[in-house]
Amino acid sequence: MKSFRRICCFCFLLPHFIVPSDAIDTLALNETLADGKTIISSGGTFELGFYSPDTSSKNRYLGIWYKQVSPVVVVWIANRDVPVNGTNGLLKVTDQAKLTIFNGEGTTIWSTNSTRLVQKPVAQLLDSGNLVVKDAADANPENYLWQSFDHPTDTIIYCLGLCFL
Ligand SMILES: *[C@@H]1O[C@H](CO)[C@@H](O)[C@H](O)[C@H]1NC(C)=O
Ligand SMILES: *[C@@H]1O[C@H](CO)[C@@H](O)[C@H](O)[C@H]1NC(C)=O
Ligand SMILES: *[C@@H]1O[C@H](CO)[C@@H](O)[C@H](O)[C@H]1NC(C)=O
Repeated sequence: MKSFRRICCFCFLLPHFIVPSDAIDTLALNETLADGKTIISSGGTFELGFYSPDTSSKNRYLGIWYKQVSPVVVVWIANRDVPVNGTNGLLKVTDQAKLTIFNGEGTTIWSTNSTRLVQKPVAQLLDSGNLVVKDAADANPENYLWQSFDHPTDTIIYCLGLCFL
Protein backbone atom coordinates (compact mmCIF):
# COMPACT_ATOMS: atom_id res chain seq x y z
CA MET A 1 0.00 0.00 0.00
CA LYS A 2 2.81 2.32 0.91
CA SER A 3 4.72 1.71 -2.30
CA PHE A 4 1.50 2.00 -4.30
CA ARG A 5 0.94 5.43 -2.84
CA ARG A 6 4.48 6.38 -3.65
CA ILE A 7 4.01 5.34 -7.27
CA CYS A 8 0.81 7.38 -7.53
CA CYS A 9 2.52 10.33 -6.03
CA PHE A 10 5.35 10.00 -8.50
CA CYS A 11 2.98 9.76 -11.45
CA PHE A 12 1.14 12.81 -10.30
CA LEU A 13 4.25 14.87 -9.86
CA LEU A 14 6.03 13.71 -12.99
CA PRO A 15 4.62 16.33 -15.36
CA HIS A 16 5.78 19.08 -13.03
CA PHE A 17 9.30 17.76 -12.64
CA ILE A 18 10.33 17.67 -16.26
CA VAL A 19 9.75 21.14 -17.59
CA PRO A 20 12.26 21.79 -20.33
CA SER A 21 13.92 25.13 -19.83
CA ASP A 22 15.45 25.58 -23.27
CA ALA A 23 12.59 24.13 -25.30
CA ILE A 24 11.27 26.00 -28.30
CA ASP A 25 7.52 26.19 -28.81
CA THR A 26 7.40 28.28 -32.00
CA LEU A 27 8.34 28.05 -35.65
CA ALA A 28 8.92 31.42 -37.30
CA LEU A 29 8.42 32.37 -40.95
CA ASN A 30 10.55 30.23 -43.29
CA GLU A 31 11.93 28.23 -40.38
CA THR A 32 11.74 24.49 -40.89
CA LEU A 33 11.18 21.60 -38.55
CA ALA A 34 12.97 18.55 -39.87
CA ASP A 35 12.06 14.97 -39.09
CA GLY A 36 13.82 14.09 -35.83
CA LYS A 37 13.41 17.59 -34.38
CA THR A 38 10.45 18.57 -32.24
CA ILE A 39 8.93 21.64 -30.70
CA ILE A 40 7.62 21.50 -27.13
CA SER A 41 4.85 23.56 -25.57
CA SER A 42 5.97 26.10 -22.97
CA GLY A 43 4.85 24.06 -19.96
CA GLY A 44 6.39 20.87 -21.36
CA THR A 45 3.04 19.11 -21.78
CA PHE A 46 2.92 18.55 -25.55
CA GLU A 47 5.44 17.81 -28.27
CA LEU A 48 5.09 18.24 -32.05
CA GLY A 49 7.12 16.34 -34.61
CA PHE A 50 7.22 13.56 -37.16
CA TYR A 51 6.59 10.02 -35.97
CA SER A 52 5.74 6.55 -37.25
CA PRO A 53 2.87 4.61 -35.72
CA ASP A 54 5.08 1.53 -35.80
CA THR A 55 8.82 1.14 -36.16
CA SER A 56 8.61 -1.11 -39.21
CA SER A 57 6.82 1.56 -41.23
CA LYS A 58 8.51 4.18 -43.41
CA ASN A 59 5.36 6.28 -43.21
CA ARG A 60 5.92 9.46 -41.23
CA TYR A 61 3.18 11.66 -39.83
CA LEU A 62 3.30 15.09 -38.26
CA GLY A 63 1.63 14.71 -34.89
CA ILE A 64 1.17 16.18 -31.45
CA TRP A 65 1.60 13.88 -28.45
CA TYR A 66 1.81 14.08 -24.68
CA LYS A 67 5.45 14.57 -23.86
CA GLN A 68 5.44 12.82 -20.49
CA VAL A 69 2.97 10.02 -21.10
CA SER A 70 4.27 6.58 -21.99
CA PRO A 71 3.29 4.76 -24.17
CA VAL A 72 2.90 7.70 -26.49
CA VAL A 73 -0.60 9.13 -26.82
CA VAL A 74 -0.93 11.04 -30.09
CA VAL A 75 -3.69 13.65 -29.82
CA TRP A 76 -3.57 15.15 -33.31
CA ILE A 77 -2.26 14.16 -36.74
CA ALA A 78 -1.78 16.62 -39.60
CA ASN A 79 -1.21 14.47 -42.69
CA ARG A 80 -3.26 11.42 -41.70
CA ASP A 81 -4.16 10.55 -45.31
CA VAL A 82 -0.84 11.47 -46.95
CA PRO A 83 2.17 10.18 -45.01
CA VAL A 84 5.72 11.24 -45.79
CA ASN A 85 7.69 8.31 -47.23
CA GLY A 86 10.90 8.25 -45.18
CA THR A 87 12.48 10.74 -42.84
CA ASN A 88 13.02 13.66 -45.22
CA GLY A 89 9.80 15.47 -44.34
CA LEU A 90 9.87 19.14 -43.40
CA LEU A 91 7.37 21.39 -41.69
CA LYS A 92 7.53 25.06 -42.60
CA VAL A 93 5.59 28.30 -42.10
CA THR A 94 5.43 29.92 -45.52
CA ASP A 95 5.07 33.62 -46.32
CA GLN A 96 1.41 32.98 -47.06
CA ALA A 97 1.01 32.16 -43.35
CA LYS A 98 0.47 28.54 -44.22
CA LEU A 99 1.80 25.62 -42.25
CA THR A 100 3.09 23.28 -44.90
CA ILE A 101 4.55 19.79 -44.93
CA PHE A 102 7.01 19.03 -47.72
CA ASN A 103 8.12 15.53 -48.58
CA GLY A 104 11.68 14.55 -49.47
CA GLU A 105 11.21 15.79 -53.05
CA GLY A 106 10.10 19.23 -51.86
CA THR A 107 6.48 18.63 -52.88
CA THR A 108 3.72 19.99 -50.65
CA ILE A 109 1.75 17.07 -49.24
CA TRP A 110 -0.29 18.95 -46.64
CA SER A 111 -1.02 22.59 -45.98
CA THR A 112 -3.25 24.73 -43.81
CA ASN A 113 -5.34 27.66 -44.97
CA SER A 114 -4.87 31.02 -43.36
CA THR A 115 -7.73 33.44 -42.82
CA ARG A 116 -5.53 36.37 -43.89
CA LEU A 117 -1.99 37.19 -44.97
CA VAL A 118 0.36 38.80 -42.44
CA GLN A 119 3.95 40.02 -42.40
CA LYS A 120 5.19 37.82 -39.56
CA PRO A 121 3.31 34.54 -39.36
CA VAL A 122 4.47 32.21 -36.61
CA ALA A 123 3.36 28.73 -35.58
CA GLN A 124 3.16 27.95 -31.88
CA LEU A 125 2.38 24.78 -29.94
CA LEU A 126 0.34 25.83 -26.91
CA ASP A 127 0.33 23.98 -23.60
CA SER A 128 -3.33 23.10 -24.25
CA GLY A 129 -2.17 20.94 -27.17
CA ASN A 130 -3.47 23.44 -29.71
CA LEU A 131 -1.16 24.16 -32.65
CA VAL A 132 -1.84 27.69 -33.87
CA VAL A 133 -0.64 30.01 -36.61
CA LYS A 134 -0.76 33.67 -35.67
CA ASP A 135 0.68 37.06 -36.50
CA ALA A 136 3.75 37.66 -34.33
CA ALA A 137 3.04 41.40 -34.62
CA ASP A 138 -0.58 41.12 -33.48
CA ALA A 139 -1.26 42.73 -30.09
CA ASN A 140 -3.89 40.07 -29.43
CA PRO A 141 -2.01 36.75 -29.10
CA GLU A 142 -5.27 34.81 -29.46
CA ASN A 143 -6.14 36.21 -32.87
CA TYR A 144 -5.33 32.95 -34.62
CA LEU A 145 -5.04 32.62 -38.40
CA TRP A 146 -5.45 28.86 -38.07
CA GLN A 147 -5.65 26.39 -35.19
CA SER A 148 -5.51 22.61 -34.98
CA PHE A 149 -8.43 22.61 -32.50
CA ASP A 150 -10.64 23.56 -35.48
CA HIS A 151 -9.47 20.40 -37.25
CA PRO A 152 -9.68 17.47 -34.83
CA THR A 153 -8.41 14.30 -36.47
CA ASP A 154 -9.39 11.59 -34.05
CA THR A 155 -12.02 12.28 -31.43
CA ILE A 156 -11.51 8.95 -29.66
CA ILE A 157 -7.88 9.74 -29.01
CA TYR A 158 -8.93 13.22 -27.95
CA CYS A 159 -11.17 11.73 -25.25
CA LEU A 160 -8.44 9.35 -24.16
CA GLY A 161 -6.08 12.28 -23.95
CA LEU A 162 -8.44 14.21 -21.73
CA CYS A 163 -8.24 11.47 -19.09
CA PHE A 164 -4.63 12.44 -18.54
CA LEU A 165 -5.38 16.09 -17.84
C1 LIG B 1 10.70 33.52 -46.95
O1 LIG B 1 10.90 32.70 -48.09
C2 LIG B 1 10.37 33.26 -49.28
C3 LIG B 1 10.49 32.24 -50.39
O2 LIG B 1 11.71 31.56 -50.32
C4 LIG B 1 11.11 34.57 -49.58
O3 LIG B 1 10.57 35.16 -50.75
C5 LIG B 1 10.94 35.53 -48.41
O4 LIG B 1 11.70 36.70 -48.63
C6 LIG B 1 11.37 34.87 -47.11
N1 LIG B 1 11.04 35.76 -46.01
C7 LIG B 1 11.85 35.93 -44.95
C8 LIG B 1 11.38 36.92 -43.93
O5 LIG B 1 12.90 35.31 -44.81
C1 LIG C 1 9.33 4.90 -50.28
O1 LIG C 1 10.66 5.14 -50.69
C2 LIG C 1 11.41 3.98 -50.96
C3 LIG C 1 12.81 4.40 -51.34
O2 LIG C 1 13.32 5.31 -50.43
C4 LIG C 1 10.76 3.19 -52.07
O3 LIG C 1 11.47 1.98 -52.27
C5 LIG C 1 9.31 2.86 -51.70
O4 LIG C 1 8.67 2.24 -52.79
C6 LIG C 1 8.57 4.14 -51.35
N1 LIG C 1 7.24 3.81 -50.87
C7 LIG C 1 6.15 4.43 -51.30
C8 LIG C 1 4.86 3.96 -50.71
O5 LIG C 1 6.17 5.31 -52.13
C1 LIG D 1 -8.31 25.81 -48.34
O1 LIG D 1 -9.19 26.67 -49.02
C2 LIG D 1 -9.55 26.23 -50.30
C3 LIG D 1 -10.39 27.30 -50.96
O2 LIG D 1 -11.28 27.86 -50.04
C4 LIG D 1 -10.29 24.89 -50.19
O3 LIG D 1 -10.63 24.42 -51.48
C5 LIG D 1 -9.37 23.89 -49.49
O4 LIG D 1 -10.07 22.68 -49.30
C6 LIG D 1 -8.91 24.43 -48.16
N1 LIG D 1 -7.92 23.52 -47.59
C7 LIG D 1 -7.97 23.14 -46.33
C8 LIG D 1 -6.85 22.24 -45.89
O5 LIG D 1 -8.84 23.48 -45.54
